[in-house]
Amino acid sequence: MSSRRAVAYLAITLTLLAATAVALDRWVWAPAMISTAQRVDFARRLPVPPLAPSHRDSRGRRVFDLRAQTGEHDFGSGPVRTEGYDGTYLGPTLRMTRGEQVVVHVRDDLPEATSVHWHGMRVPAAADGGPHQLIPPGRSWSASWRVDQPAATLWYHPHPHGATARQVYHGLAGLLIVDDPATTIPQLPHEYGVDDLPVIVQDKRFTDDGRLDDTSAPLAGIGLLGDTVVVNGVTGPYLPVVTRRVRLRLLNASNARTYDFGFTDGRRFALVGTDGGLLDAPADLRRIMLSPGERAELVVGVDPGQTTVLRSYPHPLGTGRLGDRFVGGDDTLDILQLRAAAILRPSPEPPRTLAPLPRATRAQAVRVREFSLNNDAINGQPMDMGRVDAAPVAGSTEIWRVVNDDGIPHNFHVHGVQFQVLTVSGAPPPPQLSGWKDTVYLPPDEPVELIMSFPRHPGPGLYMFHCHLLYHEDSGMMGQYAVTDPGADMNTQAGH
Ligand code: C2O
Ligand code: CU
Ligand code: CU
Repeated sequence: MSSRRAVAYLAITLTLLAATAVALDRWVWAPAMISTAQRVDFARRLPVPPLAPSHRDSRGRRVFDLRAQTGEHDFGSGPVRTEGYDGTYLGPTLRMTRGEQVVVHVRDDLPEATSVHWHGMRVPAAADGGPHQLIPPGRSWSASWRVDQPAATLWYHPHPHGATARQVYHGLAGLLIVDDPATTIPQLPHEYGVDDLPVIVQDKRFTDDGRLDDTSAPLAGIGLLGDTVVVNGVTGPYLPVVTRRVRLRLLNASNARTYDFGFTDGRRFALVGTDGGLLDAPADLRRIMLSPGERAELVVGVDPGQTTVLRSYPHPLGTGRLGDRFVGGDDTLDILQLRAAAILRPSPEPPRTLAPLPRATRAQAVRVREFSLNNDAINGQPMDMGRVDAAPVAGSTEIWRVVNDDGIPHNFHVHGVQFQVLTVSGAPPPPQLSGWKDTVYLPPDEPVELIMSFPRHPGPGLYMFHCHLLYHEDSGMMGQYAVTDPGADMNTQAGH
């Protein structure tokens, strides 16, 4: 080969390599990052889900009715086929008080089976609404329990095995607020829809012909990542603020996306509550990260006439600089604009202490269990509705040591309890993980130790624990536990 020819081949090879690099950058790397910063019009007033009506029955129980149905909903640019509870998208906010007995009748008017799970609620297994409590189309199911936990922002959503992601994505989700008269804090904003607001954050993708696109993000391995954020069911919302402070009850009801929330002007906020209740003291923060299923209650102050935008910032997800790009870690998403009126009603500062938060200690635990999340399974076993993976004793306290061995984002949710985070990678938890939690993000290879006590409830049955990235949950990254009576044999308790 002449040297001239060799040079020509080299030039061609280099050109092809460069072209490949450009193409990779252009078609794979660059589009994997989404930014809507300053590109959202904030033209729609934030809708507030109505409070669900309820009545007292002859036994003094508070009774709610919910109907899962299909509908057409306008997120902001025309009607889209959706699903909702008592409406076309999302559902009313259920509000209940500690100590009362509640009953929820759920009717399934969808063309397929569903279930309704009360995420974060301490309930008997038969009322939990997991995959074992399926409601066939056209039928009803009733759940009843006594509310016995601190004031908190919880939520409800379907849980039929294999179909949870699709049903939640199409709109089946709602907020559930627990009030506790013993720890009511008058200094916290508490007028629902005025200075105390649900902020249900979800990401969507729409097809060209205006349907909800539920195909998975390429390369992500975590399911659906949307390019459009909807809050309480609308795109580009603004919130008219009429008081000096507002309380935002943030819920990440997205299928797979994590958010790192903050304000565009860098203002700080008080984190007052996490998944399962108020913190013992407000934490002064600038950012709060929420993975799917997690909640946070923030109190944010504004001055008259100000506007600021709640935004989700790029944040490390632990999968490396390359990996994070494909799982949403580099994305910037504008969420909600706060627009303060020219004259604001005064609101007090949050108090220095909030609610009692008894610390669980390692010494209380009677048992440590290990859970490794990997390859659509937990401890190597994909979800099996006929298998019991753990049988903790009622009234006992356990430490669950959970590790994501998978190299992609996962989180961990446990039904039926609220836990405390003992350690993350061996270190004590940051303020945002220091209160009651039921869902926690698992950065790859960073073990998280959770401590929890299993309440005693009437009746047997199963509770789930799983990754709350809904595609993973549907694909089998879920296990089941049965709470056993002290002294009983698990094999006689767990049957169903
Ligand atoms: Cu939010 Cu098993 O659920
Ligand atoms: Cu749950
Ligand atoms: Cu997962």
